[in-house]
Formats: sequence, C-alpha cells, structure tokens
Amino acid sequence: MAKITLTINGQKTVLDQDPDMPLLWLLRDSLNLTGTKYSCGMGICGACTVHVDGELTKSCITSLSEVNGSKIITIEGLSKDNVHPLQKAWQEQEVSQCGYCQPGQIMTAAALLANNPNPSDKAIDETMSSVLCRCGTYQRIRSAIHLAASGGGK
Ligand code: FES
Ligand code: FES
Repeated sequence: MAKITLTINGQKTVLDQDPDMPLLWLLRDSLNLTGTKYSCGMGICGACTVHVDGELTKSCITSLSEVNGSKIITIEGLSKDNVHPLQKAWQEQEVSQCGYCQPGQIMTAAALLANNPNPSDKAIDETMSSVLCRCGTYQRIRSAIHLAASGGGK
C-alpha cells in the first residue's frame, strides 16, 4: 500500500492504495464513479477513457502510481447537470444506442474539441477511432461533435 494523492473531478483525495491497482478499479469500485466503463481491460476498446491532466487515458491499463499527483476528470465531472455542449449535442443527435461505450466517446470528443475547436471529419475519425462502438453510432458521433463545435445543441 502507498499514499496516492489525486484530484478527481475537482476534489482532492488522498488514498492508501495498492500503487499497482488500475485507475479504473479505483474509480468504479472504491469511489463509485461507475460512468467510466470496463470492457476489454486491455487498452483496446476505449470504454474506460478519462482525462488525466487533460490527456486521454485508458484507465484500465493505467496504474495508480502512474497518475499519482494528477488531475483526473471522469464523465461525472465533465459538467454539472450534463450541460457540456457535447452532452447536449449527444442528446439532440440521439447518439446513444446501448450506451456502454458512450462515456468513453464523450470524454474523447471533449479532449478533441479542447485541442481543435472546429475539427474536420478526418480529425474526428482519427481521434474517435480510439473508442469502439459495437452499436455503430459513428455517424451520429461525428454529427454531434460538429454540432457541439458549431455552438449548437439544445
Ligand atoms: S476497458 Fe479500457 S480500453 Fe477497453
Ligand atoms: S452505443 Fe452500444 S457500444 Fe456504443
């Protein structure tokens, strides 16, 4: 066990934890932040994507020792009351099907827009290819990102 200090969704937290534990385990099992999903557990599908110091990070393959001292944002911390432009655009475009991949999709899109406020289809496809969707929502994801980038969304 080791002392791990994290700022999660704006709240500083000091924990006594196994430094080898994946960040995803801490988020879901210890902190009940279950919006971040567990799927492949191998860094392939992107369902577990969160922001660590602003960078896209697959939390299933990232140990607590790697993120010690970092600022972490999960889907729960992206906005208050789901008012982030992407969350509104997602609703307007009715992107979600089963919904399982969608927290990872939205966190990935948020990082994309933070770096590129008006991304091309090519830039969207390149970035969003890191998160798989079994339900095939890719076209609507692209539309929702364009809508959010244009300032649209209800
Ligand atoms: S669960 Fe982390 S990449 Fe699939
Ligand atoms: S909405 Fe079902 S996996 Fe993406």
